[in-house]
Amino acid sequence: MTKEAHASQVYLSYASWAADKGFDGIANFLFRHAAEERNHMMKILEYILQRNGKVHVTAIPAPDADPVSVNNCFEKVFQSEIDNTKEIYNLVNLSMEEKDWATWNFMQWFVKEQIEEETLALNLLAKIKIAGGEKAGGDALYNLDRDLEKEPDEAKSAEDATTANP
Ligand code: FEO
Repeated sequence: MTKEAHASQVYLSYASWAADKGFDGIANFLFRHAAEERNHMMKILEYILQRNGKVHVTAIPAPDADPVSVNNCFEKVFQSEIDNTKEIYNLVNLSMEEKDWATWNFMQWFVKEQIEEETLALNLLAKIKIAGGEKAGGDALYNLDRDLEKEPDEAKSAEDATTANP
């Protein structure tokens, strides 16, 4: 729960950084994602309550330092998703060790979600790389910012793709 809350704060922080730098499209994309991460936190909270567990609401660690560039921002987003995936895999492992199959089953939604989130983050990195990476100039960043305003929140995961709809 706290890890998802932390992910939400990370997106909130980077979105604020992007807005401050005038990248409103990137900010909009990251703000929307902050809300999505908070929904993930709520999903876990509701599951704990449903299973008669005790919810512990704890302090959320502060997000990492501000990015130094759009390229760095997307690298940090990707790293944050990788960290989150590791935590989710830890829970999957734990549920398996404890033969808690209800939780194991519940966690599969998050395993699938992380595939999408990592894809989304990799897509961001691919876009900034095409735009020139750290050397991306004003025009390229302007176009990227405009495009991200329209980017959907969910990336299609490979396992949902079909030959007719790749
Ligand atoms: Fe809820 Fe991006 O992990």
